[in-house]
Amino acid sequence: MIDIERHMRHALALAARGRGFVEPNPMVGAVVLDAAGRAVGEGWHQQFGGAHAEVFALAEAGERARGGTLIVTLEPCCHHGKTPPCTGAVLAAGIARVVAAMADPFPKVAGGGLVLLRAAGVQVECGVCEADARELNAPYLKLLHAGKPWVHAKWAMTLDGKLATRTGDSKWISSEESRARVHELRGRVDAILVGRGTVLADDPLLTARPAGARVAARVVVSASGALPERCQLRATAREVPVIVYTDNPDRLVGWAADGAELVTLSEPITVEGVLNDLGARRFTNVLVEGGAGMLGALLDARAADEFHVFVAPKVVGGASAPSPVDGRGAELMRDALALARATSEPCGPDVYVRGFSG
Ligand SMILES: NC(=O)c1ccc[n+]([C@@H]2O[C@H](COP(=O)([O-])OP(=O)(O)OC[C@H]3O[C@@H](n4cnc5c(N)ncnc54)[C@H](OP(=O)(O)O)[C@@H]3O)[C@@H](O)[C@H]2O)c1
Repeated sequence: MIDIERHMRHALALAARGRGFVEPNPMVGAVVLDAAGRAVGEGWHQQFGGAHAEVFALAEAGERARGGTLIVTLEPCCHHGKTPPCTGAVLAAGIARVVAAMADPFPKVAGGGLVLLRAAGVQVECGVCEADARELNAPYLKLLHAGKPWVHAKWAMTLDGKLATRTGDSKWISSEESRARVHELRGRVDAILVGRGTVLADDPLLTARPAGARVAARVVVSASGALPERCQLRATAREVPVIVYTDNPDRLVGWAADGAELVTLSEPITVEGVLNDLGARRFTNVLVEGGAGMLGALLDARAADEFHVFVAPKVVGGASAPSPVDGRGAELMRDALALARATSEPCGPDVYVRGFSG
């Protein structure tokens, strides 16, 4: 008896290796079993524009795929995109059975790959480990369905819930280990976003160090356009993209001259408007790093999907020291955003809390 679920879990783990490299494509992993049920090939989608998972797995299996089973985390594609359709490769390899974790909602596929395989006489099943597959590709699915990127909200705070001292000093709240985690995150997202206040207070560079799978655009939201004449973002705008969302581009002519892209929307700047525009650029993951005003606007709009919070065992005190999330906030405790699937783990001396909005 073949343990399909075990192989599917392995295929999901393979798929995850593509994180940061494949977006805006989905992460996909595949395992090929021969007719006797032995694993003879595996692969994953490694790079945007590159070969799909099935192609790698079938190539490794070669002739042993004939009469065998393909286990794949997403329905094989049936259209000519950047590469030929995978359904053709599956049929050419003589695969007898295909087990997919989920159908691909991508409009040019949308169940068509499974229909085509069935019509060609392949035994097709769909839905094995589907919840895990959906969670793995939640950012891909959100961009496809909502036209907006998956939003990661990140902050570091002290034990007494402060984002900085009363003088605005915030370097550093969290430990080196926590900051390394943040740099890992930065290295796999499409954009890192902050509000104007953070540019003024911290003069951040907002790059991943060391570099990760992709280079994120640095995004600043400032309706007023009152950004500094000199700062690291502006000075490096030709090296790593800087996008400024503003209602007052006239105040930012110097930023544009130095290479920043100024974006005005048809309506005054809102979180919703910014996310729609980032989605139109096919950004799959956006990391919002603060500050309190920006995170407050984000949470009031219920627009964050995933949370990464680092709590450092330090106490700074001070009635005027900022806390991580401003905005309007909840009126009653029962209105608080309760994170789903929240986990916590030590990160150096800090605690790293991760969770989801739903
Ligand atoms: N510990 C951490 O993890 C961390 C991370 C980042 C920052 N910080 C700290 O956070 C503090 C800065 O926080 P902050 O609240 O002063 O500044 P902020 O949130 O970085 O920026 C606020 C500004 O962002 C713009 N903005 C935000 N939401 C908007 C919206 N919905 N529509 C239009 N514009 C919007 C506005 O700019 P305009 O006024 O131009 O419209 C607003 O004044 C600093 O002390 C910094 O050190 C800490």
